Amino acid sequence: MVILLTGAAGFIGSHLTEHLLGLGHTVIGFDNFDNQYDPARKQLNLRLIKGHRNVNVIEGDIRDQTLLADVLRRYQCDTVVHLAARTGVRDSVREPALCLDVNVNGTLSLLEAMRTTNVRRLVMASSSSVYGNSTFVPFREDDDANLPLSPYAMSKRSAELLTHTYHHLHGFNVACLRFFTVYGPRQRPEMAISRFTEKMFGGQPITIFGDGNTSRNYTYIYDTVMGITSAINHLNGFDLLNIGGAASTNLRDLVSMIERAVGRKAVIDWQPNQPGDVTLTCADLHRASNRIGYFPSIQIEEGINRFVRWYQQSVLCS
Ligand SMILES: NC(=O)c1ccc[n+]([C@@H]2O[C@H](COP(=O)([O-])OP(=O)(O)OC[C@H]3O[C@@H](n4cnc5c(N)ncnc54)[C@H](O)[C@@H]3O)[C@@H](O)[C@H]2O)c1
Repeated sequence: MVILLTGAAGFIGSHLTEHLLGLGHTVIGFDNFDNQYDPARKQLNLRLIKGHRNVNVIEGDIRDQTLLADVLRRYQCDTVVHLAARTGVRDSVREPALCLDVNVNGTLSLLEAMRTTNVRRLVMASSSSVYGNSTFVPFREDDDANLPLSPYAMSKRSAELLTHTYHHLHGFNVACLRFFTVYGPRQRPEMAISRFTEKMFGGQPITIFGDGNTSRNYTYIYDTVMGITSAINHLNGFDLLNIGGAASTNLRDLVSMIERAVGRKAVIDWQPNQPGDVTLTCADLHRASNRIGYFPSIQIEEGINRFVRWYQQSVLCS
């Protein structure tokens, strides 16, 4: 396959690029290296694939429909994986217009570029945040997802709805994957596991918002990449799929696991809950396992150990 991968230089995108190249696919990465976090980190993310004969990374913005259409045509792409986005709930509360512009208008621009070049296979990153504070646990894809708690969640739900429209009107085959807090090597620096690890190694206090009883269905990057790859191989019609970890973990337990892996006790700076944050995420994985054979394989403690080992070798020793 020739796959256009938006957001290729990011955390998930760079791992996926390596995996797809390993499977023998051609990857056309597309990323604007924005400054939501240090663009130099994104260049580093691409280090392992530099020079590979089956990859090209184009610097561009997904809101540039003409450029996207040119790229789809020039490289004869047959499949698109759309990961590029303004990420993060808290940033979206600070900058809602930018979040909506990139995540909704950017997705529309991509869909139009695909339509005009006759590319109709799309796997798109959505998010568990679309479930808001749903009281139906675990979260199922056929639950209502109409009460988003942040501009980010709203933008992801809107993008899902847009892709459904293109499935209906133009026969696109689409899988929207609802990722649940992905972690592992190269995780975005503002995410909790990265932040806590960095602070604990530096002997600095970690900030916890709320009472520490929030819970997340943390998903190791390997499982996320397997989920995306399976979704590419099973594209057929329109699907919404939860791609989550095996179990939900309480924030206090997560901190204890990082403490054990780092070998230091955390000093905690307790702060009030942040607007937009949800209290719990918990994925029902039946649909993903039935439709695409998705089963998460990495337990949280093992994943945290792998992450901390990577951090020691790649960040502390660099
Ligand atoms: N990491 C998670 O826990 C998680 C959870 C749920 C959903 N997601 C979704 O998965 C996707 C990937 O997330 P990630 O954690 O790898 O984030 P990331 O920020 O590391 O990667 C996103 C990439 O998109 C690029 N980008 C941003 N705006 C762009 C634009 N206008 N044009 C082109 N490129 C642009 C960025 O430069 C970045 O490299 C995102 O859509 C995110 O919303 C991630």
